[in-house]
Amino acid sequence: MRILRIDGGHRLAGETRVGCAKNATLPILAAALLADDPVTILKAPDIADVEIMRDILKMLGCETVRLGDGVMVDPTGLKDSALPDQLAKKLRSSVFLLGPMLGKLRRATVTYPGGCDIGLRPIDLHLKGLESLGVRISEEGGLIVCDGSAMHGGVVHFDYPSVGATENVMMAAVLTPGRTVIHNAAREPEILDLQRFINEMGGNVSGGGLQTIVIDGVKRLRGAAYRPMPDRIVAGTLLAAAAITGGEITVLDAMASDMMAIISKLREMGCRIQESDGRIDLIAPRRLRAFKHLETQPYPGFPTDMQAQMLALATVAEGSSVILEKVFENRFTHVPDFTRMGADILVNDRVAVIRGVSRLHGARVTSRDLRGGAALVLAGLAAQGITDVEQVALIDRGYERLEEQLSGLGARITRLEA
Ligand code: EPZ
Repeated sequence: MRILRIDGGHRLAGETRVGCAKNATLPILAAALLADDPVTILKAPDIADVEIMRDILKMLGCETVRLGDGVMVDPTGLKDSALPDQLAKKLRSSVFLLGPMLGKLRRATVTYPGGCDIGLRPIDLHLKGLESLGVRISEEGGLIVCDGSAMHGGVVHFDYPSVGATENVMMAAVLTPGRTVIHNAAREPEILDLQRFINEMGGNVSGGGLQTIVIDGVKRLRGAAYRPMPDRIVAGTLLAAAAITGGEITVLDAMASDMMAIISKLREMGCRIQESDGRIDLIAPRRLRAFKHLETQPYPGFPTDMQAQMLALATVAEGSSVILEKVFENRFTHVPDFTRMGADILVNDRVAVIRGVSRLHGARVTSRDLRGGAALVLAGLAAQGITDVEQVALIDRGYERLEEQLSGLGARITRLEA
């Protein structure tokens, strides 16, 4: 079995560069379907989720090739409007392909996605939003069949600012005649990035990153070349790696303005941080202070994708910390593995209370999801002795060779079969 083996207790120090955001690249790859000509996504991250999305695009009839560090997508061969079941199950967020398929083909079929290990993750908000644009949705034997033949601009009001549902409706509306207004839209920076890409292709979208987004339908979209925004979660994970080892780090290309909630929490723990768009410098204290209280929320609140990483920091901080996971209903699956490393954590539903210990000890642990796996690596960096992290494939979904990036900063970490 492939594992990451970490010999802990070594301070990280140095400079590294963050790549393009997974959660911007994935919807941008989906939006490529809307174009009439090939598009190029520059510096698309070399991660498993991007490869799964490319496989799905190929199965829908598109051509896609990796050109150096970019990905080219030629959507002119798009013919199939049924999301391939097996691949869609591997990539939950592929549900936001509904929007571009409806936008381009006026029809789409998807199987009802099962839950995943961070919660049920239904798609009711996606479907309700698409119905506001005149999409007729029926369920036939576990299949969700969407008929977009009578689509029109409409007004959507989300009960909850869902990232994927906001992206789905944006993409469904781009080639739909009339004006679409989305109220209570998700405000994550990745939404603004998707807007920028769509407008680069000739779309007419405004308000991305704010709570009201307006899309005026256009007749066609041309090809474009676009570089997605930097990955704020990978950048936050790298800052956390330096913080948990009492080290110092410079993260280049990171957009600090997208990361203020993360930076503020790290400062609360005693880290000294200088930030600008393009460069973040962090110097950690010898021992972190507990952050007392952290609640995950939609942007600009604290991002749920950094919850596990901050829990790792809290396990060795001075004092006790409380985390409320308000976005997903089951996102503490990583806690038992931290306990095996000597952490003192109590979980009750969506609340975790972490009492800091002076030192974790190495253990063999298992990634349960992408961010939980990355957080266990962080714990291994600080632990006494050897930590083996299993299920590396989950980490590879969102991190480009994490072990190489951390080794470059002084970590003793290798990928091996064991
Ligand atoms: C996106 O997922 C991200 N994925 C997630 O990142 C991230 O955790 C999440 O946004 C929140 O920021 C991508 O962008 C590819 P949501 P998404 O719709 O769109 C509920 C990572 O680690 N909900 O905002 O699925 C849902 O169950 C991943 O990179 C409904 O109830 O997130 C969840 O509790 C993990 N009905 C909450 O909303 C719906 O129709 C947030 O979901 C849709 C969502």
